[in-house]
Amino acid sequence: MKVIAISGSLRSASFNTALLKACADLAPAGMELTLADISGIPLDNGDDQANGFPASVTSLADQIRSADAILIATPEYNYSIPGVLKNALDWLSRVENQPFDNKPVGIMGAAMGALGTARAQYHLRQVFIFLNGRMMNRPEAFVGTAHQKFDANGTLTDQSTREFLAKYMVSFEEWANG
Ligand SMILES: Cc1cc2nc3c(=O)[nH]c(=O)nc-3n(C[C@H](O)[C@H](O)[C@H](O)COP(=O)(O)O)c2cc1C
Repeated sequence: MKVIAISGSLRSASFNTALLKACADLAPAGMELTLADISGIPLDNGDDQANGFPASVTSLADQIRSADAILIATPEYNYSIPGVLKNALDWLSRVENQPFDNKPVGIMGAAMGALGTARAQYHLRQVFIFLNGRMMNRPEAFVGTAHQKFDANGTLTDQSTREFLAKYMVSFEEWANG
């Protein structure tokens, strides 16, 4: 199974990017996670869309179309999803043969607060109603107090979170195949 993983953070020390890397490590045999790059996507501007879509958008759209499933880790910014993630989704939503249509999508997130991006994830689910992604409802994955669960290299050191994620990835595979 080919999975494209999208982090909603551009930070080099991002907990959410680190979370996706942990998912890649813990994924069941046969599942291959590729981290997408949204850092080169410009700010959406309808004028630019009229001149054609940037390669950073069309190549990500191609990656998504050819994947079996998508896994998104979103930070929470002011109780919602960060602008960089929303901007990427807004661009992708305008591409012909919209890539998320009916695509299996899992979402998760990491934050230093206790709620672990719950509020942002519910906003992300709302966005995907229009994008018509096939969203995995359960299990949900909220990684709170992330600063206590990853080391300085971004390795997920918290054992119970590792065990949870390994189970999550098995559920994700079964659900996406179902
Ligand atoms: C503009 C901004 C708004 C934030 N708002 C929230 C918030 O609403 N809830 C929360 O739990 N953390 C909030 N945070 C803290 C983020 O959870 C924290 O910076 C986290 O590390 C971001 O994810 P990343 O490590 O993947 O970059 C905010 C951070 C920033 C920069």
